[in-house]
Amino acid sequence: MFSKGLLSADQFDRKDLLLFFKRVKQREFLKKRLQGRTGCLLFFEPSTRTKLSFEKAGLDLGIRWMSLEASRSSLSKKESLRDMYEVIAANEPDLLVVRDQYSGIAHFAHHWTKIPVINAGDGVREHPTQALLDAFTLWETDPKKKWKIVIFGDVFRSRVVRSHLPLFKKLGYPVSVVNDGSLETARFCKTYGLRLVPRSSTKKTDVVICLRVQQERGSEKKMAPLSIHDFGRKTKLMHPGPAVVGVDLTMELSAKDFPPSLIHRQRQNGRFVRSQLMKDILS
Ligand code: CP
Repeated sequence: MFSKGLLSADQFDRKDLLLFFKRVKQREFLKKRLQGRTGCLLFFEPSTRTKLSFEKAGLDLGIRWMSLEASRSSLSKKESLRDMYEVIAANEPDLLVVRDQYSGIAHFAHHWTKIPVINAGDGVREHPTQALLDAFTLWETDPKKKWKIVIFGDVFRSRVVRSHLPLFKKLGYPVSVVNDGSLETARFCKTYGLRLVPRSSTKKTDVVICLRVQQERGSEKKMAPLSIHDFGRKTKLMHPGPAVVGVDLTMELSAKDFPPSLIHRQRQNGRFVRSQLMKDILS
């Protein structure tokens, strides 16, 4: 299942997904350290939580890390991406963790190197480990519940949502999207068969997943930030991060101790989910 690494969330079927979650919950990855394995962190776009959690998870497993930054690599001397990946492969790492602005680069990285690749976010295409930890966070909170999810924010430019959708479908979690009045959101929902719902729906759902306004990819702020007034008595809050306070959501919602928030749990689960994934790929 992981011979190529994890390029897309679509690689999981329902059975594999539930088994994976059970292993994460039992902290199966703690049982035996990996010996003599080397990983390569290739973060060519900014990252805090993904990079740090991969790094720490790997160190805990016994992985030794090499890393490269785009601005300090020979890409700045006009070397091609393909040549760069062939140089990386010549140094024989066992695993690549790749984040880049180019949609599809994780697939190319595997094709060029034949090394397992974990897609840590490729352009607007996918971010499977973030989706995996988000789905795990809901499943862990209540494994029997069919979580009703409303997404608030720019779905069109979200790579996380494109990885959420196959996982939530396999888990039987219904997904709808708050209508921000834009054509691109309407077209996204039509393409993926999602219901467009009014903002008031957030009060009646089980969980609201708030997404960042991605100015670097051309998102514009179309809605007032998500606020306490958007929450019903039992509604939970998630945000894959990084959250922009005052733009995506209010300060009150972003607080670590906001009772309905699962955001801190998402941050913690990043390391656990990525540990299990690397263990499964390298074992
Ligand atoms: N969610 C996410 O990918 O966050 P970072 O950009 O901080 O890694």
